[in-house]
Amino acid sequence: MDNIAGTPVEGENFFGRSTEVRRLAEILDNDDILLLGPRRIGKTSICRAVMAHVREKSWHAIEINVASCQDELAFLEKLHTALAPEMASLSSKIKEGFIATFDAISARIKSIKIPIPGAGTASVDLAESATEDWIAVGNEVLHLLVQANQHWLIYIDELPIMLFNMIRNDTATGVKRVRRFLDWFRNDVRALPDSHSVRWLVSGSVGLDTLVQQHGMADTINSLNHQNLAAFTDEVAIAMLFKLADRYQLALDQDSAAKLVAAVQWAQPYYLQKAFHYLRQRVSSNADVDIASQIEFAINDMVQPGSDNDFHHWEHRLVQQLSSSDAAHAIALLGLAAQDASGVRPENLLSHLQGRMPNDSAEKQREVFINLRDILQRDAYWWPDESSGNKRYRFHLEPLRRWWIRRNTL
Ligand SMILES: Nc1ncnc2c1ncn2[C@@H]1O[C@H](COP(=O)(O)OP(=O)(O)OP(=O)(O)O)[C@@H](O)[C@H]1O
Ligand SMILES: [Mg+2]
Repeated sequence: MDNIAGTPVEGENFFGRSTEVRRLAEILDNDDILLLGPRRIGKTSICRAVMAHVREKSWHAIEINVASCQDELAFLEKLHTALAPEMASLSSKIKEGFIATFDAISARIKSIKIPIPGAGTASVDLAESATEDWIAVGNEVLHLLVQANQHWLIYIDELPIMLFNMIRNDTATGVKRVRRFLDWFRNDVRALPDSHSVRWLVSGSVGLDTLVQQHGMADTINSLNHQNLAAFTDEVAIAMLFKLADRYQLALDQDSAAKLVAAVQWAQPYYLQKAFHYLRQRVSSNADVDIASQIEFAINDMVQPGSDNDFHHWEHRLVQQLSSSDAAHAIALLGLAAQDASGVRPENLLSHLQGRMPNDSAEKQREVFINLRDILQRDAYWWPDESSGNKRYRFHLEPLRRWWIRRNTL
């Protein structure tokens, strides 16, 4: 197993999570899945493992990453392109009769016109007709899949980014189009006869839930089975570190491995891989110092400028999802919570927020606090630790807490 920290991992490099893979595959027997979670927690990797798993049951599985898609047309193009080789692989008896239609759809996709942002009322009219166009073509593609009489899994990665693109590019009708797109999933796709032979696995970094709530369209994603990815247990985390240590001939003992896991605190494999990477570097340049005493340094290396790209997105995500005042409040609350590794009492956090909103009523201050508190908990920034008898909101990821402090220190 290689020490990979960044790109999705597969095969030998995919450690653990076999129960989760099976569970997701079982859910797909009856349901479509929405897998949301912070960046880098291993969404793409596990979805690929799920694809490999269902392929063993003779399903056809395809992956499309729609982060670069700016509109519905680009989405359909991606889907069509990814399906083409699968279609070609069907036995000639199955595909006879519909492969020509599948090929012809390509031309129809190209003929769809998507509204030009900023073109005023003409754009709104065009949006209406384009909507009907892409839906008709999209349904036709799905109809063909169903006709093939096979099981299909369509994995769509980074869907929230595409939807954010649509809203940003088209201020007049973007939100409406996003609603229509999500409704297509919920209604049109399911209304197809035998639609259960086509299953969807949708993933992305957190954002979709805030987006649908903001625009009053939470109903559109309710029909998807919502899933997330828990961190490794200490036992699995230590087993992974041993496997890496073995591969790189690092003399990591049980105590040092446990210490490294405890230092990361939120044992998501990515942060374990990162911590291991910095530990390896430290050990190779200070071979005579024992490993355990280098762990603390390795964790600090993770958050230094130049190494800290992975933490910026935690801050950026707040700015992207929340109104500018809410984002500033959330950043300030995290700034306070970061001061203490064991977290901060909610009363103190609320009073900090009240100081930032002196002109608002007590009810309003409380409402904003509760809303932000829940978003920060859902998106894995902090969690309510009640082990001391008093509730304290504390960071999940210790390196992120250190980064937060470093960023706010002169
Ligand atoms: N099962 C695993 N075993 C070992 N390492 C893993 C595993 N899952 C994830 N990782 C680590 O996490 C990194 C990111 O994985 P992946 O790209 O799947 O996450 P992601 O949630 O899709 O990230 P992004 O939000 O950036 O798309 C990998 O490079 C690897 O370091
Ligand atoms: Mg990914």
